[in-house]
Amino acid sequence: MRIHNFSAGPAALPEEVLLQSQAEQMDWQGVGASVMEISHRDKKFVELAAAAEASLRALLSVPTNYQVLFLQGGATTHFAQIPMNIAAPEQTGDYVITGAWGQKAIKEASTLIKTHVAADAKKYVTVPESSSWNLTPDAAFVHVTPNETIHGVEMFDVPKLTAPIVADMSSNLLSRPIDVSQYGIIYAGAQKNIGPSGILVMIIRDDLLARQPRKLPAIFNYAKHAENGSMLNTPPTYGWYIAGLVFDWLTKQGGLAAMEAKNLAKSSLLYRTIDESGFYKNPVDVPYRSRMNVPFVLPDASMDAAFLKGAEAEGLMGLKGHRDVGGMRASIYNAVTLKSVEVLVDYMKHFAKQA
Ligand SMILES: Cc1ncc(COP(=O)(O)O)c(C=O)c1O
Repeated sequence: MRIHNFSAGPAALPEEVLLQSQAEQMDWQGVGASVMEISHRDKKFVELAAAAEASLRALLSVPTNYQVLFLQGGATTHFAQIPMNIAAPEQTGDYVITGAWGQKAIKEASTLIKTHVAADAKKYVTVPESSSWNLTPDAAFVHVTPNETIHGVEMFDVPKLTAPIVADMSSNLLSRPIDVSQYGIIYAGAQKNIGPSGILVMIIRDDLLARQPRKLPAIFNYAKHAENGSMLNTPPTYGWYIAGLVFDWLTKQGGLAAMEAKNLAKSSLLYRTIDESGFYKNPVDVPYRSRMNVPFVLPDASMDAAFLKGAEAEGLMGLKGHRDVGGMRASIYNAVTLKSVEVLVDYMKHFAKQA
């Protein structure tokens, strides 16, 4: 039996994608082998890779002056690799910190370049007004985390800035349409809305690829990856294949505007249930509540174990909140259905009534 999967990541994938990959496991496209058993230089795989990039470009309307890279390492690797590629040691990277992932990003960057906290929400229940950001005049970039997965804080807009905006969209890329041209770099580990862990999508503007502020081994150099079609070395071929299936699935769903409508329906149902319950609480300022990760607490942490036990009995899994925040967290990425959220809210109402 399939569960209702609220895992924060690795997370639920669309059933259609899992079924197609299962059907193609022994013989992908008539080659007589699985896609993960053939060379990444094989003509068929090269076509798959190009098709996945084309679907992603179409979904996000990626402008032609941006390269799309499929890289290894999670977002954590790129917390360090991005500063290496776009800032010299004496240059400053500005960081807007709205949760735990932004904190981790600046820590890694500070080993390589000068870093500056342009804004820090501290309690991580809001996004500081962009007019209050204390920006360095000649910053090499401004880093933001548009969806803080642990705290459930989402930044829906970014301001127009002189420095390029670098955005860790690991947990909200593809959940709604965005204007790629507002960003210098967008990067996202796959394991929430794209595919299995181990592959990362990066959308990077040409002028940032050209910066080359220091000598780097080729494997760390984004420009070299771009020159080689993200096949400088053996890429995570199976993850790339699943990502392509997910992009096709999103296109069939009606694209990102259709996904946004579904994600709004799911998240509003859940927030409404929390707010009207007089029992559960979500601390995040309403305009910044994440549509992807919904943390909530019960009136007393001593009730958590019973809540989770009852949830598991209903097939509702992955609800335990992150250890930094406690309580519960429902991650409701693209592949989580409205039906699953309806089962969750029914359970939440039932639990609150009998508590
Ligand atoms: C917003 C965000 N950034 C970075 C990461 C780290 O990703 P990884 O563990 O793949 O390096 C996560 C993981 O949950 C995340 O949610």
